[in-house]
Amino acid sequence: MPKWFRPDLTENDVTPEEIYLNRRKFMKAAGVLPLFPALAACDGQDTSAKAATGENTLKPTPYEDITGYNNFYEFGVNKSDPAREAHRLTTKPWHVTIDGLVEKPGVYPLEDVLKGMDIEERIYRFRCVEAWSMVIPWNGFMLRDLLKRVGVKPEAKYVAFETLHRPEEMPGQKYPVLKWPYREGLRLDEAMHPLTLLATGLYGKPMPNQNGAPIRLVVPWKYGFKSIKSIVRISLVKEQPPNTWNMMQPDEYGFYANVNPNVSHPRWSQATERRLGEGLFGKRVPTLMFNGYEKEVAHLYKGMDLRKFY
Ligand code: MTE
Repeated sequence: MPKWFRPDLTENDVTPEEIYLNRRKFMKAAGVLPLFPALAACDGQDTSAKAATGENTLKPTPYEDITGYNNFYEFGVNKSDPAREAHRLTTKPWHVTIDGLVEKPGVYPLEDVLKGMDIEERIYRFRCVEAWSMVIPWNGFMLRDLLKRVGVKPEAKYVAFETLHRPEEMPGQKYPVLKWPYREGLRLDEAMHPLTLLATGLYGKPMPNQNGAPIRLVVPWKYGFKSIKSIVRISLVKEQPPNTWNMMQPDEYGFYANVNPNVSHPRWSQATERRLGEGLFGKRVPTLMFNGYEKEVAHLYKGMDLRKFY
């Protein structure tokens, strides 16, 4: 039985570094991601992973909540808009431009991007800046595997990402609610961290359009807005790239956006979160530093003032 249907999932079942690095890879992608719902990729868990403790129990959020309540402003500003509108998006064919400071720049068909990549399951906490959260079984591969394949030049210090701009299929783009296309960025060491995924599915199914089909970023220790959806461009650059929410509201959204219960959003606390799919009002649980991935990522920010670099 897949792990995510088991009622006895605990904190130890979320994917930390030492587990996924040893885990058997359960699929080599060959073009389009097939369905693989019955694979129990998390069997044989290493229970030493107690980095994140507290009351933050983990039970994967129901599929309906993950796919029915989310942000994807290209389809509207309400949480129910993406599920209703995203069927308009055509994801075949799909190309990803990889450019900037790389050895092998190009406009790559998605099939070529996925070819030979190890698609694995990662059960990650997902924390939105708006203080709701989910636990999501993603299917994806490490961004660093793609970056290694295209060859990052030594001068590159950051990775910039861009979402598709296609207003005829993304009705939200007809309105200037954000500066289109949606943009995000990571420092190169964040992008190369093995927790950083390019996800192509969830719950063993191809990525639903509203969750960022056909390929999106997942950075589990950062607030959800860093996890840019429906990516069409990945650029290796020298300078810190602009990111959409920071361009819109720089006092509220920084470049780093690391989950940090000790630094409040200017308009609300970040100390707790409401877990979606757990009853009418959702259970409130304490938010963990770096969303529970402190052991894995704190070293990236050593010596940095996290109030300044929020
Ligand atoms: N990517 C694009 N292109 N457009 C968006 O509006 N919203 C972000 C992020 N990525 C967004 C995006 C925000 S605010 C969140 S919380 C997450 O996507 C939601 O991801 P989910 O659908 O997996 O919950």
